[in-house]
Amino acid sequence: MSDSNEFLNQYCMHTHTCGELTLADDGAEVTLTGWVNHRRDHGGLIFVDLRDRAGLTQIVFDPEVLSAPDFHKGETMRPEWVIKVSGKVRPRPADTANPHMPTGEIEVLLSSVEILGRAKTPPFAIEDGIETDEITRMKWRYLDIRRPEMLSRLRLRAALAHGLREALAKRGFTEVETPILGKSTPEGARDFLVPSRVNQGGFYALPQSPQLFKQLLMMGGVERYYQIAKCFRDEDLRADRQPEFTQVDVEMSFVSQDDIMQLTEDVLTEAFAGLDGFGLDIAFKAPLQRLSYQESLERFGNDRPDARFGLELTDISDLVDKTDFKVFTGALASGGVVKCINAKGAGDLSRGEIDKIADVALAHGAKGMAWIAYRRDGGKNSPILKFLGEEAVAAIEERMGARPGDLLCFGADGFAEASAALSAVRLYLADLLKVERQGHQFLWIVDFPMFKYDDKEKIIGAEHHPFTRIKDEDLHLLEEALKTAEADGVAPAQSDQARALLAQIGSYSYDIVMDGFEVGGGTLRIHQPERQLEVLRALGFSEEKAKEQFGFLMDALSFGAPPHGGIALGLDRLVMLLSGSESIRDVIAFPKTASAADPMTQAPAEVSERQLKELGLRLR
Ligand code: AMO
Ligand code: AMP
Repeated sequence: MSDSNEFLNQYCMHTHTCGELTLADDGAEVTLTGWVNHRRDHGGLIFVDLRDRAGLTQIVFDPEVLSAPDFHKGETMRPEWVIKVSGKVRPRPADTANPHMPTGEIEVLLSSVEILGRAKTPPFAIEDGIETDEITRMKWRYLDIRRPEMLSRLRLRAALAHGLREALAKRGFTEVETPILGKSTPEGARDFLVPSRVNQGGFYALPQSPQLFKQLLMMGGVERYYQIAKCFRDEDLRADRQPEFTQVDVEMSFVSQDDIMQLTEDVLTEAFAGLDGFGLDIAFKAPLQRLSYQESLERFGNDRPDARFGLELTDISDLVDKTDFKVFTGALASGGVVKCINAKGAGDLSRGEIDKIADVALAHGAKGMAWIAYRRDGGKNSPILKFLGEEAVAAIEERMGARPGDLLCFGADGFAEASAALSAVRLYLADLLKVERQGHQFLWIVDFPMFKYDDKEKIIGAEHHPFTRIKDEDLHLLEEALKTAEADGVAPAQSDQARALLAQIGSYSYDIVMDGFEVGGGTLRIHQPERQLEVLRALGFSEEKAKEQFGFLMDALSFGAPPHGGIALGLDRLVMLLSGSESIRDVIAFPKTASAADPMTQAPAEVSERQLKELGLRLR
């Protein structure tokens, strides 16, 4: 992005940035400041590319023009020295002009040179496209940020945040700051805890999101709130996750789910329009497509589909239930499904390459991956043809549209397990087959279930969070489930019948998905204290425990609570995808490594014995 702002040359030492001089400035006396990007000694004349955040300008040291001491500075200066120079703009000789840079037709013939700061040799080149390992870049993050592509990402981030702020403020949203030192708000991750010195044994939890506070603001009559909020989650890190990250957090009163989705689309449309200077192809066209959670799982295997390409999942359970293939019939007999992907163009992969696809399924929880390969020469290859029998194979081929050159991949398992494995296979195949995924695509996933059951831990959790409103038509299921569990004298998670009822309950919830990443999510909230208590009980809270942990919320709900709801957009993920970055770390100025550490400041670090003592803590 080029800088064009009337204020950029005010309040500073220079008259122009390094990105703006052109032939129109021929003859102007200018002063520039910046970093030495590159120096070339041309026997007699010295040329330096001077860099600042706006760009590069060629400056010329001529011993005929400069004093001997100033020319000597040019002879000795090294990359990344910080200098201030003055001189006169002149056209470059035609054969040395560079049409690819905005300042490529001029240079500045220097009349004075001042060295403001010397630099050691940097550990990596200050330029785009370096292959330096990420830890090294993070250790010298300020040098990394000096690289134009990094700087440009930070400015994209700032511009997007600014646009969202403006769009929200314009619509009557009040920005309110909520506490960082607070009490745990469950969003499904572990809390970061901060010990209290004055209340020994007490701990603050850093917010996983401002969820409860933004709801309390609705009870406070704020009606429309937003905040660009830092959130903290102690979870396993991935390329799209950081332990601290930023949400554009929104809450509104007296709204329907459609109102919030409409608001989100309007605000994004406006904010994206403000990014034209960045040369992005955002392709955000409201209204966005909406897909139900169930349909998304059925077609793509997950609830954040990259729907820019096909390779969709197809259920073939009904075609194989009468075959002799125990893997398939066994899965169906225990209530599962058999699903299939047609990988067009993969029919001639070698056995080893197909095994690698199967490994992806295995790594994502599958017990195996059966397949049929249709060789381009007409042959058919598969370990399972003999078990399926001709009739079933013909029916599968018809439903899947199998042709020579195709590879059918099968997953047989519980619906959730088969979906998870095949959604990973789908993404792997897209990479392997170099499937076209140009541009961006946004869509909504709606109608999430309210609850989810963790088979390993034997607990019921909330699909979004415990403050989400249940679909009106499903309220009776909640009441029945609680009654059933109570009659059996067990927690709902321990009752098969209660679990089955809870599993059918839908919620007013919506995630916004971009290119296969969840970039935002929200829900309508519960605004009746009795209902909130019921949901907490379904989640396994005793009445006592619920009041102990969320008494303040239920109190607030009992003093006149408006119906309300909201959404939070993941700012880091949005910028990562818009800027085409591989990792969320590339759009965060000072990110953490995969082990949640900062190689530059060495955080987290040990603390002194004295600090521990003051906090009343002893390390084990
Ligand atoms: P949720 O947990 O879905 O909802 O978070 C909202 C969005 O925040 C982003 N996000 C993250 N980004 C980077 N690193 C992380 N560790 C991380 N975790 C989440 C995602 C996600 O869509 N309080 C609710 C919102 C609401 O109901 O209004 C919430 O936090 O893009
Ligand atoms: P087996 O009879 O276990 O040797 O499996 C025969 C074929 O079925 C192999 O290609 C396995 O990878 C595959 N297979 C095994 N379990 C599953 C499953 N749950 N879903 C799909 N294919 C499977």
